Amino acid sequence: MSHSGAMSNDDNAVMANSDKQNEVIIDAQFLRLSFRWAESLFGKGAPFILGREESALWKANKELCENNRYSMRRMNPPWQGGGVSHSGAMSNDDNTAMADSDKQNEAIIDAQFLRYKDVLQKRCAERKASVMQTYKIAVIAGDGIGPEVISEGKKVLEGIAGLDGGFRAEFTDFPWGCDYYLKTGRMMEENGLEKLKGFDAIYLGAVGYPGVPDNVSLGGLLLEIRRGFDEYINLRPVKLLKGAPCPLKDVRQEDIDMIVVRENSEGEYANVGARLFPGTPQEMALQTGVFSRKGCERVIRYAYELAKREHKTLTSISKGNALGYSMVFWDQIFKEVGEEYPEVETSSLLVDAASMFFVKNPGRFQVVVTSNLFGDILTDLGAAIAGGMGLAAGANLNPEKTFPSMFEPIHGSAPDIAGKGLANPLAAIWSVSQMLDFFGHEDWGRRVIDAIETLLVEKKTLTPDLGGRAKTSDIGEAILEILRH
Ligand SMILES: NC(=O)c1ccc[n+]([C@@H]2O[C@H](COP(=O)([O-])OP(=O)(O)OC[C@H]3O[C@@H](n4cnc5c(N)ncnc54)[C@H](O)[C@@H]3O)[C@@H](O)[C@H]2O)c1
Repeated sequence: MSHSGAMSNDDNAVMANSDKQNEVIIDAQFLRLSFRWAESLFGKGAPFILGREESALWKANKELCENNRYSMRRMNPPWQGGGVSHSGAMSNDDNTAMADSDKQNEAIIDAQFLRYKDVLQKRCAERKASVMQTYKIAVIAGDGIGPEVISEGKKVLEGIAGLDGGFRAEFTDFPWGCDYYLKTGRMMEENGLEKLKGFDAIYLGAVGYPGVPDNVSLGGLLLEIRRGFDEYINLRPVKLLKGAPCPLKDVRQEDIDMIVVRENSEGEYANVGARLFPGTPQEMALQTGVFSRKGCERVIRYAYELAKREHKTLTSISKGNALGYSMVFWDQIFKEVGEEYPEVETSSLLVDAASMFFVKNPGRFQVVVTSNLFGDILTDLGAAIAGGMGLAAGANLNPEKTFPSMFEPIHGSAPDIAGKGLANPLAAIWSVSQMLDFFGHEDWGRRVIDAIETLLVEKKTLTPDLGGRAKTSDIGEAILEILRH
């Protein structure tokens, strides 16, 4: 055979002998081999990944076919309804054709593919690089158990990128947090927000450590990022997975499955106030809540949209009976926006009653919308009824994607167990699932939750807080192992 890719005399002789049936056989073989090659070059599932865009492999194959004057009749790629089933396996027709095929034809095609291997590989790699999505992720592992749990989350995200083949994660670590504060007097660099602005997402561990006042560690980093990047939605799933511990009696696992949408940019955490007459008997502190129409409307609308999309009920939680300005305003906006969503079934609860129902009847909640402070408290309660702090994640979203969104486990830096390999990283891994959802890989997001559930049910690799003996650093790999199967 010639090495130019053109047909040699030998090849021509074989082709000359081939009848129409042979041509069909060769086409079928060609398709099968295309799959085999795509998979051998890029791993399982590669033909479909390449197929998302016009595939370089396919183009190269087509060229190869044309060079060799094979019939193009059955050469439509599978994603265009071609001759193979979508599993990549041969269809019955193909199998029948293959049963009749002679080995010689296969050998010829194999040889042609071999000759083209380098060209195919190069073209595929070029194409793949040009279509592959790279997510730039800023990592602030922070204090205490932060770095331990984040390291597992990174492992999982990188592993998933490898399994998917269509995207990759590029991490940039920032050494900010309490250590940084003790050295520099700041929780993050002065131009920290500027540095973070260009990233697709921020992955945060936890901040806060003895020796630095909590209001300094929280205000100097977490709240600054949330406010600075207008991450006005805080999304916290409260879902009891199979196998997760629940302290409530007489509650079925499926009864705890809600998503709390917490206002994340203003309200009670707006940090407006003053300290007056310090050190005198008249000393006083003023702290004002800020509830703007824009701020309330956008979070409430987000919750209505979510409830509508997922065909769920929506509960607003406020405190209009005692907070006669801010919360009455909130309730009014909840009603006004609701007029645009007649299909969404709603209810309004006072926060004290809602806390009681979180414990007594969590099944009544599906989508919940509430203010910054109430959301903060209720979601810790939510974490407590749905497996504990080691299983609670939160996403700080800037839905317009003008700025990066931030994904974090909701627990703190747990100084009592830091550095001992005892921390449960499942909440940090759950945040990876939220990040994948936000990037549009909802399928992977769901699979990560399913994998966490499998881990909990199998009980083979769990950290001590969940009754196991595994180390923090065992969990990422255990999740990936489940995802691989
Ligand atoms: N988002 C954040 O960064 C954040 C949130 C809450 C608290 N903090 C800070 O963290 C520090 C400690 O706060 P805290 O003790 O009130 O809350 P915490 O969440 O750090 O710890 C509370 C308890 O839960 C346990 N715990 C927490 N996460 C765990 C995990 N992943 N696996 C196993 N056990 C876990 C801890 O050991 C501890 O007993 C403080 O400085 C606080 O300001 C930060």
